[in-house]
Parts: sequence; C-alpha cells; structure tokens
Amino acid sequence: MQQQLVQLVAAATQEASGVSTRAEMEAFKARVVGPNGSLTQVMKGLATLSKEDRPVVGKLINEAKKAVEELLATLQVKIEESEIAGALGAPLDSTLPSPDAPAGSLHPLSRTREKILSTLRKLGFTVAEGPEVETEWHCFDALNTPADHPARDMQDTLYLPKSFRSADAPRKGEEAILLRTHTSSVQVRTMLSRKPPFRIVAPGRCFRRDAVDATHSANFHQVEGLWIDRNVTLADLRGVLDFFVKETFGPEAEIRLRPSFFPFTEPSFEMDLRSPNLGRLSNRWLEIMGCGLVDPKVLELCGLDPNEWSGLAFGLGLERIAMLVHGIDDIRLFYNNDTRFLRQFA
Ligand code: DAH
Repeated sequence: MQQQLVQLVAAATQEASGVSTRAEMEAFKARVVGPNGSLTQVMKGLATLSKEDRPVVGKLINEAKKAVEELLATLQVKIEESEIAGALGAPLDSTLPSPDAPAGSLHPLSRTREKILSTLRKLGFTVAEGPEVETEWHCFDALNTPADHPARDMQDTLYLPKSFRSADAPRKGEEAILLRTHTSSVQVRTMLSRKPPFRIVAPGRCFRRDAVDATHSANFHQVEGLWIDRNVTLADLRGVLDFFVKETFGPEAEIRLRPSFFPFTEPSFEMDLRSPNLGRLSNRWLEIMGCGLVDPKVLELCGLDPNEWSGLAFGLGLERIAMLVHGIDDIRLFYNNDTRFLRQFA
C-alpha cells in the first residue's frame, strides 16, 4: 500500500505538470480526490486493514493527501495568473497602478481660487499668506478698526480662550487671539515684513459667528488684494478690478464703484458687477467686493511712510464668486462633500 501511495503521488505530480487550464485542473482534481478518485480509493481500502496497520497507513495517506493538496494549490495560482495575463494580453505586473482608480478633481472653490489667482498674476500680483489664528492687533487695530467697532464684538468674532494666547503677540501674552474674520490681516503682515513696492493676493479661510443659511457660513473664504507703490490711484484700482471682472465673468461684464466705508481704506467703495451671462442674475448690479485706497493711518501703523507710499486694496468672498460663476444657490453645498454635486465641476 505504501508503494501504491508513492506511485500515486508520483503519477499525480507528473500529470499536474501537463495541466494548464481551469477545466483540466478540475478534471485532474476529480481523478485524484473526487468520489472515485485514485486517492479516495486507497482511503476506502483503509477499512480492510488490520488494527495494527491502520495508523501507519493512515499517516501515509495523510502525507499523500497533503502532497496532492499542495499540487492543486500551485496549479490554482498558475492558472489564475495565466487567466489574468490572458485577459490583459500581457504578463501580469502587480506593481502597475490600478487601471480603474476613479480620477479626482479640484473642488469648485479651489478652481475658482486658482482662476482668480491666475488672473491677478497676469497683473504682477504674487500670492501671500497669513495665519488663520490671528492676533486682535493684526485683524483689527492695525487696520484702523477701533476697539468699539461692532466687528470686534464677541457676538461677531470667534475669540480663543486666554490659554491660547501666544507669547509672540505684540503685547506679549496680553493680546487677544481670534480666528481671523477677514484676510485683510494679511495686508498688515505683508506691509510689516516686505519692502514696497509690491502687489500681493492673499487667499484664505475666514471665520465669523454667523448663523448658517443658504448664503452664510461660519467658515468661508476670501481673497485679498494689496498693491503698495508710489502714486497708486483710483484709476489703478478701477483698472485692476475691471480686468479681474472681465477675466472672471467675460468681456461684457462691467463694474461700478459705489461709495462706502471701511476703517482701513479712504476712500472706500463697494464694487458692483453687471454681466449679461449670469442666468437669472443677468444685467443686475450685484455687490461682490469691498475696496479702496489704503488709509494713510494703516500705512503708518504698518511702518510705511504715507508721504512716500500709497496703495489700493480689495477683498472678496470666494464662495460668492463661485456661486455666481456656476449658478449655485446654496453655500452649504460647498462643504457637504456630496460627490453628486462635486462631480459636476470635474
Ligand atoms: N475685509 C473686508 C470684509 O471682510 C473686505 C474688504 C473691504 C477688504 C475693503 C479690503 C477693502 O481690502 O479694501 O468685509
């Protein structure tokens, strides 16, 4: 019987080397371990053996069974590989990237930001950044915004607890720390750290204690522009904004500057936009940004001599622009991460 088992395994090994398809493998498996398979037959013979011989032969049978199982496992791998290679028309290279990984795309806010930045780059603006967690001084005082200004109210601005106050704040530890309410703080940081002339554009996230609805979010994005040079005028401001609007909304878009007030610009304006290709908002004046000439007081607070330097500044809401460009009517859609919404901008 031992002889028989050795022969059986040798024959099976020989036979396995000729198996190359799944059907052949199944037939081979049936011939050896199927109900009438050669190994099955030997196992049935076990019952006819004497009590003493049974454990010895049983052990041999188990060894033969293991050898056959190994043969089958090896065949399985070989056949699967050849099937995949056949389907791909080439040998399998498991280091290649998956062919069907879904391609991602930029978020509509990122797209809008990139478009705005590339427009302003054409006018010589470079990107500047500042922190989202800001000191009260950079966010308000240096921008000529007095302590009793409503924006500084706890109701409108998110202040951080005292334990967050940093040692590098101008008034060493006493300075209130807040989440910036606008990107205008980057104006201050840039004026303090760079030598004019310069033109910068600062995109970034801002925070306000707003109740969330279709047009408000406590967390939103702005893009700030600042141009400091000698003799910057309102004509420069108009030129920059007109170019920006035509690049963003098309050559037929027009702008209008409406007198307004901001503590950090003098004069200050709201810039309105009118365009014939904005769907149901076509041909209506729409308010889209605040702007003006940098208040000499701000230049002074930021260490620049107002007799030598002048500047223009503007700030706009990124969500507002993206909503107008794409006809989106609810700001919350930007933050839900619903791929049915996001995919439309891919
Ligand atoms: N920081 C202002 C806000 O958040 C917007 C703004 C107005 C920015 C006028 C400016 C500006 O740079 O000149 O409402």
